[in-house]
Amino acid sequence: MRKYRERPLEPVDEDLAVTTGPRGPDAIDRLIVAHGAGVVCEILAPMLTADRMARIDEVLAARLASVIPVVEDVYDPHNGAAVIRSAEALGLQELHVLETGLRFQAASGITRGCHRWMDLHRWRDPVACAAALRTRGFTVLATTPRGAISIDEVDVTRPVAVVMGNEHAGLPEATIAACDGAVVLPMFGFTESYNLSVSAALVTSHLAARRRAHLGARGDLDPDRLAHLRARWYALKIRGAVGVIERAVSRRTHRDVAPGPHSP
Ligand SMILES: C[S@@+](CC[C@H](N)C(=O)[O-])C[C@H]1O[C@@H](n2cnc3c(N)ncnc32)[C@H](O)[C@@H]1O
Repeated sequence: MRKYRERPLEPVDEDLAVTTGPRGPDAIDRLIVAHGAGVVCEILAPMLTADRMARIDEVLAARLASVIPVVEDVYDPHNGAAVIRSAEALGLQELHVLETGLRFQAASGITRGCHRWMDLHRWRDPVACAAALRTRGFTVLATTPRGAISIDEVDVTRPVAVVMGNEHAGLPEATIAACDGAVVLPMFGFTESYNLSVSAALVTSHLAARRRAHLGARGDLDPDRLAHLRARWYALKIRGAVGVIERAVSRRTHRDVAPGPHSP
């Protein structure tokens, strides 16, 4: 395990641990799976304004699931936060973090809560992460100043995940070897590499634009995932949504099983 200096004390987003991903669904996800996205939206919609629901649908329509940034061993919580913030602003749905040496942290002053709209997946093993993405149809590409493939040559006819290394050493050889190739962002100055969060934004904005052009659409969520996210985002907009859903479902269940006035 690589060792780094103590990181600066910084308020970080503590709820990063409970975003959806291999760690399992949170309470909101469990309720959506148990009762259906439609039922959850039906319960919560009266508590949201029409503008807010329209905004959620607008963002959902532009959500791109087929470009995924992956970052390994991010040292600086400001960079962690900047990666999330750019990815969310670009309309990407997933961020995968490899924690081979360092736990991923994001400065809350920079994310301003935007991580809540994304799915964060945490991994300890680069090989397992790449294999899981490949199984889902993704090409997995390392990014390094010494990459052999120019960013313009990346095949965007398939979903693509791009792996970024940390601020100091960049990507370990083992991670690069676990990928399907290594991509370089052209550099023209004396500087030898871009900053991590800048690289992540440059690479993903470039690939997302080309992928959207290839798809001929802003977003690519399948209908089930879109419906699930709509219900989740409704819930995230309402304080105490879990309790609201639980009480409404319980009232509906009692209403359905209670004997009516004409029951024998
Ligand atoms: C500050 S750089 C790390 C520099 C490190 N000394 C190295 O040589 O990889 C952080 C990360 O940004 C990405 N990066 C920076 N410049 C890049 C470039 N020109 N092409 C592709 N990726 C780059 C890589 O993922 C890199 O691991």
